[in-house]
Amino acid sequence: GRNASLRASVAPRIVPKVASGSQISPQASYKVAVLGAAGGIGQPLGLLIKMSPLVLDFTGPSELANCLKGVDVVVIPAGVPRKPGMTRDDLFNINASIVKSLVEAVADNCPDAFIHIISNPVNSTVPIAAEVLKQKGVYNPKKLFGVTTLDVVRANTFVAQKKNLKLIDVDVPVVGGHAGITILPLLSKTRPSVTFTGEETEELTKRVQNAGTEVVEAKAGAGSATLSMAYAAARFVESSLRALAGDPDVYECTFIQSEVTDLPFFASRVKLGKNGVESVVSADLEGVTEYEAKALEVLKAELKGSIEKGIAFANKQQ
Ligand code: NAD
Ligand code: LMR
Repeated sequence: GRNASLRASVAPRIVPKVASGSQISPQASYKVAVLGAAGGIGQPLGLLIKMSPLVLDFTGPSELANCLKGVDVVVIPAGVPRKPGMTRDDLFNINASIVKSLVEAVADNCPDAFIHIISNPVNSTVPIAAEVLKQKGVYNPKKLFGVTTLDVVRANTFVAQKKNLKLIDVDVPVVGGHAGITILPLLSKTRPSVTFTGEETEELTKRVQNAGTEVVEAKAGAGSATLSMAYAAARFVESSLRALAGDPDVYECTFIQSEVTDLPFFASRVKLGKNGVESVVSADLEGVTEYEAKALEVLKAELKGSIEKGIAFANKQQ
């Protein structure tokens, strides 16, 4: 159905330990709702997070409230994807209203949940979600996340290929936003420590920034990345559940309300805990290369415009 959503109870796969070595007893299970579960991302994402026999599905606006009651994590991949020639911002007119109405339902039914926004343009849909939550008086900036995990998955993959490293070992922080030049892989902060020539830096940075568009063009009108996004979203859900269960060592890059730059939202690597964002790894932005510093300055203007567009939309519609 058009507005299908799905709710799954998911047991986190880890049994987290505290420093003393004694085991934390995590809640027996957590509830995760996927709004837009019938879509290209939603279907494989539903499969990936269905770690428990209890999966309920709901269809249409009349069942949305029931879908959301008691949910710990809400994932929103509802909305239209790009076709060749479009920017993510070209999706604004349709997806802004979809995200607005779904987040209103989240605010009414599970205001304490972690909210993962996948619907594009993420640089604007996250600020829209924040405004909606503020209007409803339930905004918790530590629990609202723009999902940028796919940028990290891509950066790790391309760096591992280029440098002949094991993918599992590679971790590249990606900061900024989630569209074109606003996506900035901090290659100088790659772990394990790797050196890149100027040419490699330029090539890898552009490849990460353009990877979504590469997929859109290859699909030639049939949409954008779905399976890789479902994988990335499942990773971010799993990380959130581990954080909720008390794992003290969960880090992900995500687009959040932020004070690390003069912009109100910015993607950074953060430490996740029971209450959402526990801290931002601000060291990632310290001691960056000249190339990265320049790219950071350049991306801010575009990102600022997209954030302001989202905020204006949410307030105009009130
Ligand atoms: P899709 O068209 O295959 O699926 C979207 C689904 O959303 C459809 O099933 C549709 O019925 C549903 N939907 C629309 N309005 C709804 C509503 N009000 N309530 C519930 N469901 C609703 O698209 P897709 O390929 O799954 O992509 C979805 C979105 O994710 C797009 O906006 C795309 O740009 C974005 N995306 C983001 C990233 C990222 O990294 N953040 C990556 C890939 C795609
Ligand atoms: C992606 O990065 O693959 C998504 O944002 C979808 C898109 O439109 O590129």
